[in-house]
Amino acid sequence: MVNIEDKVVYITGGSKGIGFGIAKVLLAHGLKVALSARNYEDLQRAKLALGDDKVLIVQSDVSKFEDEVKAVEQIVATFGKLDVVVANAGVGKFAPVDELSLEDWNSMIGTNLTGVFHTLKASVDQLKQHKGYYISIASLAGTNFFAKGAGYNASKFGVVGFTQAAMLDLRNYDIKCTTIMPGSVTSNFAEHVPSEADAWKIQPSDLGDMVLHLLQMNPNVLPSKIEVRPTKTS
Ligand SMILES: NC(=O)c1ccc[n+]([C@@H]2O[C@H](COP(=O)([O-])OP(=O)(O)OC[C@H]3O[C@@H](n4cnc5c(N)ncnc54)[C@H](OP(=O)(O)O)[C@@H]3O)[C@@H](O)[C@H]2O)c1
Repeated sequence: MVNIEDKVVYITGGSKGIGFGIAKVLLAHGLKVALSARNYEDLQRAKLALGDDKVLIVQSDVSKFEDEVKAVEQIVATFGKLDVVVANAGVGKFAPVDELSLEDWNSMIGTNLTGVFHTLKASVDQLKQHKGYYISIASLAGTNFFAKGAGYNASKFGVVGFTQAAMLDLRNYDIKCTTIMPGSVTSNFAEHVPSEADAWKIQPSDLGDMVLHLLQMNPNVLPSKIEVRPTKTS
């Protein structure tokens, strides 16, 4: 098993939901973690809840390349390097295609698709230097289309294709790339308020465990695309 305790991890969209859950698991295993999101108060709350001086919070909107460049600079200035990137930030707006607004389309493509490219482009030199790992959080919506999902499906099909092509480009630098495609996860996604009724869903900590296992895996092995769903449907 690979020793991962000295790794520095950057998680976009880490103030809530899946990103926060991944941060919690990795911190518990001794990794240093940087979290970004747009809302700084939510980031401060997340840092307090994680209660750990190994957490760096950085305000960044992944749809703006210059924000991601500054975020990576801040992480390297604080921790000295960056080994692992989890491109997780995402938004969901659901409407029939004839009613989908330009604003919602641009928000999903800008964050969910262009954002994962911005995050990779800003961090790829660090990943090359440290034989790093890039993980994108796509969705089962990246392979299964559904009504009212035109914008979200377009963004997530894009993330899956992007990450697989990036994997082929970057593996010869000893950089691993994986896209995780979850089904329903308990989170604040699309204004959802988590409750006990979400117990059947995948929990953010389950995805944290999955990321941990990927990082610990034999360097010769690369699960490049992972579909993960709840065992039951309710
Ligand atoms: N929940 C599910 O069932 C599910 C299933 C499959 C895939 N996913 C994917 O999982 C990822 C995480 O979603 P979640 O379920 O954890 O949702 P969430 O609870 O709503 O969390 C989303 C996170 O992303 C951040 N974010 C949103 N837009 C951003 C931007 N432009 N720049 C930087 N940060 C941004 C949010 O903070 P700010 O708003 O402050 O920026 C928040 O920290 C998304 O990519 C989503 O598509 C979710």
